[in-house]
Amino acid sequence: MATSFFKYASISVALAVGLYATLLGLLTTSTFQSHVVYLHAIQMTWFKNLNIPETFGFLKNQVTPFSITTSDSERLYAWHILPIELYRKHELPLVAEPTGFVSDITSRLAFQLLRDDPDARLILHMHGAGGTVGSGYRVPNYRALSAGQPGRIHVLTFDYRGFGRSTGTPSESGLILDALAVVDWAMNVAGIPPSRILIFAQSMGTAVSIAVSQHLALQSPPVVFAGTILVAPFVDVATLVATYRVAGTVPILSPLTRIPLLFSYLQRFIRDKWLSKDNIARYVRANEANGERYRLTIIHAEDDYDIPWHHTPTIFWHAVNASVSVGISYDDLALRKLESKVDLGAAGSVMEWRTDNGVIREEILKTGLHDVIMGYPVITMAVMRSFEAADPSFTC
Ligand SMILES: *[C@@H]1O[C@H](CO)[C@@H](O)[C@H](O)[C@H]1NC(C)=O
Repeated sequence: MATSFFKYASISVALAVGLYATLLGLLTTSTFQSHVVYLHAIQMTWFKNLNIPETFGFLKNQVTPFSITTSDSERLYAWHILPIELYRKHELPLVAEPTGFVSDITSRLAFQLLRDDPDARLILHMHGAGGTVGSGYRVPNYRALSAGQPGRIHVLTFDYRGFGRSTGTPSESGLILDALAVVDWAMNVAGIPPSRILIFAQSMGTAVSIAVSQHLALQSPPVVFAGTILVAPFVDVATLVATYRVAGTVPILSPLTRIPLLFSYLQRFIRDKWLSKDNIARYVRANEANGERYRLTIIHAEDDYDIPWHHTPTIFWHAVNASVSVGISYDDLALRKLESKVDLGAAGSVMEWRTDNGVIREEILKTGLHDVIMGYPVITMAVMRSFEAADPSFTC
């Protein structure tokens, strides 16, 4: 009896170890990795038609579904979302237009309201892993983004390659091309200058937006937007997998961090590294060197179980460190925080770092989870602060 118990117990242990090893093996393959990192096969909006945005709670023709072509010929599915007050002013002609996917967006009234208004602002939205433009808390997020000036703030959201109705398969270099195509559309098709554009990104989207922002800031002449809002960012993929827990509870790779040699060996197989901490430092350094005005807002909730909130102080530190010519250590910055951080009680805390050129702001909320936070008024405030800093007349 005892022997057979041990026999079965050891078979189960062997099976578990075998399965775990298989999982680790699979994780070293790039196809499996890309499904784990991007979750693009998990659409969430399977039973809804993205070309009928009304089923996601929008007014008739408030959203124009269309596509943007990338430099390597992928077609990205996108939504142009009109803010509510602007919609109200033009309700009758908007309702009279045909519904559904639009092949020439320039023919539509909604687009013309964006292009032809010198006071219009445009938020480029870079969503997180999984899902589509219509899933989860993204829809309330769009409302929060334009709530501060609902006559002027348009939102452009899109699905990266391999997501939803977009063509292709995701990769780090591919997603960067996607974001560049969207920026190009905003500046050259819609004709909006960078000072009237803001980037909002969440979770995996933060890595894309930081990579693209540093790329553009290093161009000559540099392209720097009115602001960048990052919600629930992560330091880089290696650090993320070390801390990631499925459904906030089951650690997958964190046990391996106790075996540093094995862990660093496995890290070599990470294909898409998304080195956000380095990219954000390059972005800040470029702007400081070029004397470009920039505004970075980094927001994270303490109860975020998908990406632990302590990724944000690290990202913040890398950004701040890059703004100081001699650098600043993590501990010294922590001391500065003790002096100047604003405690907002149950709303969390805010730390703002100002230089001659830029503002780097860290907001740690007590609650908001990983994605519910996107619909919160702190998002509206972050948008208004950025646009106002770029042009004080905006809030008049
Ligand atoms: C902080 O900034 C200094 C000065 O630019 C640099 O030498 C150092 O590598 C930076 N530290 C980190 C962790 O990036």
